[in-house]
Parts: sequence; structure tokens; C-alpha cells
Amino acid sequence: MAGPQRAPGGFPVVGVIGGGQLARMMQGPAVELGVQLSVLAEAPDAAAALVIPSAPVGDHRDVEAVRAFARTCDVVTFDHEHVPPDVLDALVADGVALHPSPQALRFAQDKLAMRERLTTLGLPCPRWAAAHDADAVRAFGDEVGWPVVAKTPRGGYDGKGVRVVDGPDRVDELSDWLQEAGRPGPLEGGVLLEEKVAFTRELAVLVARSPSGQAAAWPVVETVQVDGICTEVLAPAPGLDGDLAARATETGLRIAGELGVTGVLAVELFEVPGAPGEQGGDGASYVVNELAMRPHNSGHWSMDGAVTGQFEQHVRAVLDLPLGDPSARSAWTVMANVLGGDQPGDEELYPAYRHVMARDPGVKVHLYGKGVRPGRKIGHVNVSTADADGLAAARERATHAAHYLRGTVRE
Ligand SMILES: Nc1ncnc2c1ncn2[C@@H]1O[C@H](COP(=O)(O)OP(=O)(O)O)[C@@H](O)[C@H]1O
Ligand SMILES: [Mg+2]
Repeated sequence: MAGPQRAPGGFPVVGVIGGGQLARMMQGPAVELGVQLSVLAEAPDAAAALVIPSAPVGDHRDVEAVRAFARTCDVVTFDHEHVPPDVLDALVADGVALHPSPQALRFAQDKLAMRERLTTLGLPCPRWAAAHDADAVRAFGDEVGWPVVAKTPRGGYDGKGVRVVDGPDRVDELSDWLQEAGRPGPLEGGVLLEEKVAFTRELAVLVARSPSGQAAAWPVVETVQVDGICTEVLAPAPGLDGDLAARATETGLRIAGELGVTGVLAVELFEVPGAPGEQGGDGASYVVNELAMRPHNSGHWSMDGAVTGQFEQHVRAVLDLPLGDPSARSAWTVMANVLGGDQPGDEELYPAYRHVMARDPGVKVHLYGKGVRPGRKIGHVNVSTADADGLAAARERATHAAHYLRGTVRE
């Protein structure tokens, strides 16, 4: 495999396994930093392969393809969490510098392993259990109350591995769902069951940690999910209790340290009403939903809204460079995802893109070069405002732009 062409000056090459939008968005800051990226892409037209000159095509499950790719890089990181354990082990045996390490990554790849580890660390989780059969699901639901949430431990994203089970008479449908062809991830370890958390909203803590242990945390954000897909992020989370924000940040940093995460770590949280006197007496608390060990949708706001965006920080972290300042640059930044439209003619994205730019020059548009499919994330927009009272207006501007690009609003 031909290696990437190195820049003069002894600059390292960062390899990224997976050519999706996250790898693609590392390229802008990598160019500015003078760092070479090389991506192991699914296809020549993968989102990242379109913008990174060194983009050999290979399957992330093919151990020899991944080993050959890694030999051309100084460090290797990931666009997604789906590289199988045997491939990761082979890279470690070859002495490849992997960030995050397989030991850490396991807790983002496997939601059951994650629940066990967080419970051992004493971190707040929803009540949960592992179930291997329908009786175990019924027993769990009867214990914690219906409905319950069932999750495939591996391979899910955008809510695709998540199913709500309304009652004991609906458990058979769950079994059918799990057996359906194409369901993400193997189930040999059982399915993860969780109580359905009556959260007031969803939050996310994003931190970065370098191999030498330096860490930095962005402000805690609010995330809005529709049908399991993130549609909006508000940075910082409006009205968040200061003590809760501090404890959530502490939890993010603690998880990064205890698990030995290198690179960006996202911790998804549910904010829940807490009894006064509990957890610091602020009347609100949180439980951890899940972890991601890579740049994350909840951090896209930081590309325009923070001194150091998550993609720059991830590149710095995996190279063990000093980390950048994660502070917000504005009072508020709102991120709205652009999902593929479902109306005829929506593949004509370019005219809509021109309109959005003309209508509001303050909107920062990020598109991923991906084909439009209904519900698929094809881009996002960021809107920042210095006005402390400007959140609602920024939200309106961001969602308007995202909806216009989707084709669901026409003016
Ligand atoms: N235990 C739960 N209680 C209530 N809602 C949940 C629970 N688990 C997940 N959800 C909802 O489903 C969404 C997706 O679940 P998550 O485990 O984060 O899967 P994914 O890996 O697809 O992001 C969450 O953001 C939340 O809106
Ligand atoms: Mg999630």
C-alpha cells in the first residue's frame, strides 16, 4: 500500500479508520495544523475520501488491509467504533499507536461492558440488566416498571439498535426485532435492558484526553433527539444548574481518566429530577446514557463556537500535542443537523444551499459530501450569538437553515 506523502519538517501522519463525516471534518483543522491525515475508506467516494488525498480503500474488518494501512501511519484513530476486536489486537501486536486503545474503546463498542464498568465506578446509571431470553425481559420489566428500553450492545447508532418495549405482551415483538436480518451487531452476549428514564432533557459532556494525561472539557451541552437521531445541540445547556454542570464535567473527566481514553470522549447524559438533598441538593441530577470515543455530533457546535473545535482537539490529543482551549467563543451556539429530505427533488441541494447563505450570512454551513437519503445525516449548521438573550433567535435561525436544506421549508 502506497503511504501518504509526508510534509517536510518531520510532521507525523494520523491514520483514520473509516471514511465518514467525522474523518472528513478532521481534515480542515489537520490542514491548518500542518498534520497529514490518511484515511482507510469504505469506498473512493466516502465522505472523507473526497477531501483527503491519501485515502486507500479497504474494509475495516479485513485484518491484513488494516495492518497494511497502519504501517503507513504514525498513530491510528477512528471515524467509528466498528473495528472488530481481533483486528484491534493485531494492530496492538504490530506495535501500532492506537487512540483510543482497544481496552478503552471496548466500553464504547459494547453497551453492556459500558454499563458494567460505569456501575463498578459508582457512576449514576439507569437501572439495567443483561437479558438472553424473553422471560428475563419480562422479569426486568416487572421489577423496574414498564415500558423498558432494549438495546443491542454492539453496532447501533442513530437509535437503530434501540427499541422500547411497552409491556410484557410486547416482548415477542422484541424477539422478532432482534432476529430480523440486518439488525446491528451480534447478540451472543445478550441484550441490554434499561429502565425507560423519565428525563427532563438530554445533555452531553465532551472532553479530550491525551496519552500523557492532559485533559480538557467543553461546556456541557443540551442535545435534542427525535426518533433516536440528534437534531439539535444547544451550547451551553440553557439554564443548567452550575453545580450539576460541574459534577457532569467531573464525571466526563473521571471516565476519560479511569478508562484511559485518548482523543475525544463524549458522555451522553439524561438530566433527571432529583430529590432535594440528593447529589448536592440542587434538585436535579443525571444518569449516564452512553459513551462515544471519537468526535461526536454533540460537539459539532465547537467547530465554530469554541476556541478549539473537537476535530482539531482530537488530532492534537491523538498526537499527544498540548491541547487547545475548549472555551466557548460566544454566549450561545446552536447546532442543527441537516438530515436527508424525503420529498421528490430534494437531491437538488445546491440551490437550497445558496439560498441559506444569502438569507443569513451568519449561518455556518457544513456539508459532508454524502448522497441524500431520507433521515441520513448529510451536514449541519452552526449559529452563534454574543447576545445573552439571543438563544431563541439563534435556534430559530439554525433550525430554519437546516429545514430549508432538508427541503421541509420552502421560504
Ligand atoms: N434508558 C432510556 N430511557 C429513555 N430514553 C432512552 C433510553 N436509552 C436511550 N433512550 C433514547 O434513545 C436515544 C438513543 O439511545 P442510545 O443508547 O444513545 O443509542 P445510539 O447508540 O443509537 O445513540 C437516546 O438519545 C434517548 O433519546
Ligand atoms: Mg446515543
